[in-house]
Amino acid sequence: MTKRILSCMQPTNKLQLGNYLGALVNYVKLQEEGAECLYGVVDLHAITVPQDPQILRQSTRETAAAYIAAGIDPKKSFIFTQSAVPAHAQLAWVLNCLTPMGWLNRMTQFKEKAGKKKDQASLGLYSYPVLMAADILLYQATHVPVGDDQKQHLELTRDIAISFNQHHAKREFFTIPEPFITGEATRVMSLRDGTQKMSKSAESDMTRINLTDDADMIAQKFKKAKTDAGMVPANAAEAQGRAEALNLIGIYAALSDTSKDAVMNEFGGKQFSDLKTALSDLAVAKLSPITSRMNELMDDTAELDKILKVGNDRANELAEPTLNGVMEIMGFWS
Ligand code: TYM
Repeated sequence: MTKRILSCMQPTNKLQLGNYLGALVNYVKLQEEGAECLYGVVDLHAITVPQDPQILRQSTRETAAAYIAAGIDPKKSFIFTQSAVPAHAQLAWVLNCLTPMGWLNRMTQFKEKAGKKKDQASLGLYSYPVLMAADILLYQATHVPVGDDQKQHLELTRDIAISFNQHHAKREFFTIPEPFITGEATRVMSLRDGTQKMSKSAESDMTRINLTDDADMIAQKFKKAKTDAGMVPANAAEAQGRAEALNLIGIYAALSDTSKDAVMNEFGGKQFSDLKTALSDLAVAKLSPITSRMNELMDDTAELDKILKVGNDRANELAEPTLNGVMEIMGFWS
């Protein structure tokens, strides 16, 4: 079977290091393997929490610019915007009607995002993973590169697909997608709290490295990153239970394309300040070309919009047969 890759990011706030190391790096890897790749900017997902329309439109472009700046080549892969492909919302409605609420009640991300204000959270936030399933199944994706936090949503997607195939299509209609979660930084943690995921929506900017941060800001954030009173661990046994240390080691390993073990070999027994300085230099070297390329792309939004138009046309074309198949199976008029 030929590989079909699909993955997406929400255009909310600036992309951060976790988005880059947990997902984007693997988008590029899969593209370079020659697979057919579609990378979406999911603006329909973004409105599950309030958005300013002007800022949303700009953030959608910025996310597309980040894809390209990080190595997605529009000549090899397609970059599309979810709202330009109506089939996402159409398929999501059908899947909403076929997904038991009990399955959604298990989703930890809804619980985290809705927090104590569950009654005020939107219905969209609750059914968000079903729209995500639609994104993936619409393109018959075989592999979905994501960070570790999306694993549960991928499992739900597989359950929805299997159930649809069994009970409605009565044949292998949807491809059952495989998660592609790999590398040394599948879950980058906050720089201030090793138990919390690094996130673009966390309140304090000091918890994350944004792809748009300059060298000084990156250095300052790593300098102030939380560590413990010991030295850098030299091996896995010494690193046990030391979430903040492991996080910095994982980031270093991912940025330098080595393993955590290799980093612990190099820095084990040294002061954390040594690791932090090396980490800042490495992050600046890796991220600054991406930041400047992003800025260039954002200076020419006409070119960016052209790239998105090509991606949107292709996405609509690929989505059509799946949606038509679902319409037929469900007994709709098409
Ligand atoms: P989003 O926009 O929150 O994040 C985009 C991608 O970045 C990964 N990621 C991380 N990886 C490692 N460490 C972190 N701290 C970190 N933070 C974010 C995420 O795992 C994700 O791969 N629901 C998705 C968007 C989505 C989607 C899809 C993804 C909608 N439809 C279809 C794949 C396929 C989300 O909110 O990602």
